[in-house]
Amino acid sequence: MSKLWEQMLLVPSVVRLTSRAPKDPSAAWDGYWRGIRTTGRSGDVLWDSGSQTELEQYTDAVLGHFNPALPVIDVGCGNGTNTRWLAGLFPRAIGIDVSVGAIALARREAAGLHNVEFLAMDATETGAGEHLLESVGPANVFVRGVFHVLKPDQQANLATNLRTVVGNTGRVFLAETNFPGSSLAYLQELGATRRSMPRQLQRALENLPRPGHFGTQERHNTFPDSDWHLIADGPAHIEVTPMNANGQSQHVPGYFALLAGA
Ligand SMILES: C[S@@+](CC[C@H](N)C(=O)[O-])C[C@H]1O[C@@H](n2cnc3c(N)ncnc32)[C@H](O)[C@@H]1O
Repeated sequence: MSKLWEQMLLVPSVVRLTSRAPKDPSAAWDGYWRGIRTTGRSGDVLWDSGSQTELEQYTDAVLGHFNPALPVIDVGCGNGTNTRWLAGLFPRAIGIDVSVGAIALARREAAGLHNVEFLAMDATETGAGEHLLESVGPANVFVRGVFHVLKPDQQANLATNLRTVVGNTGRVFLAETNFPGSSLAYLQELGATRRSMPRQLQRALENLPRPGHFGTQERHNTFPDSDWHLIADGPAHIEVTPMNANGQSQHVPGYFALLAGA
């Protein structure tokens, strides 16, 4: 059977699952996080692979360009896996997320770490940048897997807020999935077949807005040259939780960018 035909056969189950997802993105994310029971490589969260190999791709860029005198804000931190990693590299890490449920989970998972804080807030809201600047001061920003889940107007709002937060001394590092094919091809790549749907994928389809992709063009549209200076960008491997029968690591093609205020 051709790959394309197999993709078409996914349509009925995708339609059935996605029809239940709440329309309001913030409510959708909170509902998703409140239903999560297990995290990490064998857990419920599709993107929470906890992969050191993936993070090693980013280590030189953040250590080489983030001013260690500034705190690091992990925007859209989810259960805080990357916030905890950042707290191992920098004196102070702050995770923020629109979902109160995610923040509660992140706090539990970071219990005992002295240099990690979490805050529930919508990072796309007007004034969120000023609010963060007032409470934290100028900061470096790490973002993994958030821009590709936002609509273009929200992406622009988030970038405006980040511009306020980084000031003249902070930097933004982002890593996003940038799958080149259709949504159905993406699901197939992650292990969906007409007979079975990995539980991590099923949970995401049932609860979340449909993701897009974020690469050079989207970054350029979102971070205009008038406000931003691109230091580096390129391909990245985003690792998801293993969903195949043999438990091997699974990667999604991704994109990273490192930016400073212009
Ligand atoms: C795909 S997950 C990535 C989570 C985490 N960065 C990681 O890599 O494990 C996207 C995260 O962005 C959060 N999010 C979505 N919209 C947001 C917004 N407007 N403001 C802050 N966080 C948001 C979601 O709740 C979710 O935790």
